[in-house]
Formats: sequence, structure tokens, C-alpha cells
Amino acid sequence: MSRIFTLSTFLLILCWSCTKDQVHISSPKDYELTRLLNQHGGKENFILPESDDFGAIPQDPNNPLSSEKVELGNLLFYETGLALAPMHPSGRETYSCASCHIPSAGFRPGRIQGIADGGVGFGDNGEGRFMDGNYEEDEPDVQGLRPLSVLNVGFVKNTSWNGRFGSEFLNEETEAYWNEEDGSEINHLGLRGLEGQNIEGLALHRMVINKTVLDDLGYTSMFDAAFGDMPEEERYSPLAASFAISAYLRTLLANQAPFQDWLRGDKYAMTEQEKRGAVLFFDKANCSSCHRGTSLNDDNFYAIGVDDLYKTGAINTDREDSRNLGRGGFTGKAEDMYKFKVPQLYNLGDAPFYFHGSSKETLEEVVEYFNEATPENFDVPVEQISANFKPLNLTELEKEDLLTFLRNALRDPNLERYVPEAVLSGNCFPNNDPFSQTDLGCN
Ligand code: HEC
Ligand code: HEC
Repeated sequence: MSRIFTLSTFLLILCWSCTKDQVHISSPKDYELTRLLNQHGGKENFILPESDDFGAIPQDPNNPLSSEKVELGNLLFYETGLALAPMHPSGRETYSCASCHIPSAGFRPGRIQGIADGGVGFGDNGEGRFMDGNYEEDEPDVQGLRPLSVLNVGFVKNTSWNGRFGSEFLNEETEAYWNEEDGSEINHLGLRGLEGQNIEGLALHRMVINKTVLDDLGYTSMFDAAFGDMPEEERYSPLAASFAISAYLRTLLANQAPFQDWLRGDKYAMTEQEKRGAVLFFDKANCSSCHRGTSLNDDNFYAIGVDDLYKTGAINTDREDSRNLGRGGFTGKAEDMYKFKVPQLYNLGDAPFYFHGSSKETLEEVVEYFNEATPENFDVPVEQISANFKPLNLTELEKEDLLTFLRNALRDPNLERYVPEAVLSGNCFPNNDPFSQTDLGCN
């Protein structure tokens, strides 16, 4: 009796002291997860920096981060006023980078394939965008791959699904493959992936940057503030615009996700179920054998045999599309065929459609795909499939735990902080066609 009394008094005091002093009592899962993370470079390896901690954010030495650049890039990314090279007049000033990288959709398009020029409508989250009737099927700006998220993209060394952008890292000694057709020729400028790709991106997505346009829209003084050290004849250029947009993109960090709070020491940030899911991610489910970078991305390429975009109802792509070959489509090397870059895993629940060909529409299907490990794309030779893509034998409960970790613990609930109030043109954004204006409440 007295022993029970002593024990309950002890617990009472313990509880009291923990609320009083915020002493965090760790659960066994906290220890297990910490131990697992220590095998993966430690917790620090997975902590995303604060968006204004410029010293901690990866960047291009040619383009050091500054708040002036970030502020400017934050507007240009959404600026429909730059949409000045559409295929048809009805497309003029109707689209932006964010037509395909929508913040509320986790910086993905909200539909199987992004449409910028040649699209109309927005819906609630990008799902309501369709082809403009003035456009022929081969005219809209769409790509043969599902747009990657640009969240946490500062941690991507060689950008795009086949990693062709950026002159360094895995692209060292790939000069022979740089070409005009896929835009990788830009690597000759010696820039990092983002800084190079976004110069290409502005042209590919039919946007115009020059002194007249920037004067008209009101951006000239912001370019002066951000790029005062650039000679004036180079300053109002796609290169400077890319530098500003890249600086902004580098600050898009999912650092308010519960897993991030947990990593920084708040033991209550994740539920027990999310912690069980995290333990599975780094252990039995073996996800971290490939998703091992800071944003659970990776710079390497693997074949996991998912279906291509032409199979899921997209336009302007087909079975012969070289983009279906992944890294191999860039290098032409047999060993690279059908291998795709490992994408980041934050805010994936914000919009359906997963993998480069949008072949899965729910995270449940994605987890089941990894659990069964049966490739769905018969064009991919079995010998290319990664040895780490193997059956996991997860129980129903374990699948639920893993899903909860993916859906909730890896979700930053406040991505709206990265969206500007307005762009300088005063246009509706991210889209500005009449249907989108209605959907977005602009009129
Ligand atoms: C029509 C839709 C569309 C528009 C508009 C668009 N993107 Fe993309 N974005 C994509 C697709 C598709 C990919 C994947 C391309 C690939 O792998 O070849 C992508 C990839 C990216 C990536 C690489 C991400 C990574 O992890 O490697 C960046 C950065 C990016 N886009 C930035 C931009 C910027 C900046 C703009 C505006 C200038 C823009 N995008 C406009 C569709 C779009
Ligand atoms: C063999 C390496 C490998 C393993 C193991 C692996 N992944 Fe992936 N993962 C990839 C690659 C590569 C892609 C992109 C594939 C593609 O689209 O062609 C991907 C894509 C994804 C996507 C879709 C992301 C998007 O933006 O479309 C999710 C979600 C995902 N993985 C979660 C997991 C989970 C959960 C596990 C563990 C059960 C796991 N992965 C195990 C390599 C791996």
C-alpha cells in the first residue's frame, strides 16, 4: 500500500514538474528514432534551416542569397505579367511559374500534368485547369513529366527528374551530353542547377524579361536594389531574373512540419503513431535507403518501374518520349536507363498524383506499391530495377503508421507564408485567364 502511495506521489510530482518546467519525457520511440537517425548522419542532417538563415541555406557562389533577391524572386515567380510570349493572344498575361508549382498543392500542379500557356481555370487547388479551346493539342505549355515540387529545392543539387541541370556534382564530366534541345546547354555557364535551369525555364514557359517589360510592370528599381553590382546592360535579363527566382526558391523550406519540430527537440511535436511511422521509414520499410537527403530526397537515380505520363492521360507525350528514360535519356548510358531522381517527401498530401508519370493518386497506393515491389511499367527491364525495391511485408497497422508519418508529420501547415499579397502588375495570380479569375476570386 505504502509502496503504491510512494509511486503515485512520485508520478504526481514528476507530472507537475514536467508541466511546470517543460521537461520533455522521451518515449521509447523517441530513443529508437534518435538511434536510427544517428545511423543516417544524425538529426542535424535532416533539419531544414530557417528561411532567413541565409548562412545555412545551400546556394550558388555565383548568386549569394540576399533579402532583396528573395523579395524580387517571390514576386516574379507568381507574376502573370511576364507571360508575354504565348502561342495565341488569348494566353497573354495568363500564366506564371506557379501555374504548375502551386503553393497550396505542395508546389505541384494539382492535376496529372501542369498546364501554363494554353490552359484556363484553376479550381480550388489547380485541379480545375483545362486546355484553352483556342489551342491545338500540341500547342499548350505542358511537359512529358509531372512537375516536381519546388519545396525544399535548395537541397537538390542537379535539378529536374533526370538531373541534367547544374555543371557540378553528378554532372561533372557530362559535358558531352549538354545540348540545346533539353536545355542542358545552359550548364556551360558553370552555374548550380537552379540558377541555370531557371534561365531556361523562363524561355521554355514563354515569359519575357527585358528592360521595357520590367519598366512597364514596375520591377526596375527592385532589379537595381538586388543586382546593383551587375553592369546595367546585363541587369534586366533572364539571368538576373533567374538569380532572383532561385534565391526565393532556396528559401521555400518546410521547416514548420511536425517532424522538423521534433528534430529540433520538441518531443510532443509528433504523435506516437507518427513516431512509429518514422521508425518504419528509417528501418523496416527501408525508405531511407534511397530517401536519405535533408528533405528525404536524394541526388541519386533509381529505377522503381513506375508508369510514364502518356499512360495516365496526359497530352503531348507518348511511349517514344525520351523523357521516359530518366537519367538515361540525358546520358544515353545503358546503366542510367529508366532511373529517376529521388524526390523530396514534404507536403505530398496537399495534392494527389505521385511519381514522374502521375501513376498513383493517393499516398495509400504509393505505400502499397513499395510494399509489394512489383514494377508496373513493362518497358523497364527487370535488371534495371533497384535491389532496394523489394517486398516489405508491412502489416496493415504498419502501413497506417507510415502513412500518418508521411501525411501529417511531413506536412508544413503554413506554406501560405511564401505567397505574396499581390504582384506589381496587379494581375490575378498564379493564373489570370477569365476562368481562373473567377475561381481565384479576383473579380
Ligand atoms: C507547364 C508547367 C510548368 C511551369 C509553367 C513551370 N514549371 Fe517548373 N517544372 C515543371 C516540370 C514538368 C518539371 C520537371 C521537369 C523535368 O524533370 O524535366 C519542373 C521542374 C522544376 C524545377 C526542378 C525541381 C527539382 O527538384 O529538380 C524547378 C526549379 C522549377 N521547375 C522551377 C520553375 C520556375 C522558376 C518556373 C517559372 C519560370 C517554372 N518552374 C514553371 C513544370 C512547370
Ligand atoms: C530504391 C530506392 C527507393 C526506395 C527504397 C524508396 N523510394 Fe520512394 N522514390 C524513389 C524514386 C526514384 C522515386 C521517383 C520515381 C519515379 O517517379 O520514377 C520515388 C518516389 C516516391 C514518392 C513520390 C513522390 C512524388 O513527388 O511523386 C513517394 C511518396 C515515395 N517515394 C515514398 C517512399 C516511401 C514511403 C518509401 C518506403 C516505403 C520509399 N519511397 C522507398 C526511390 C525510392
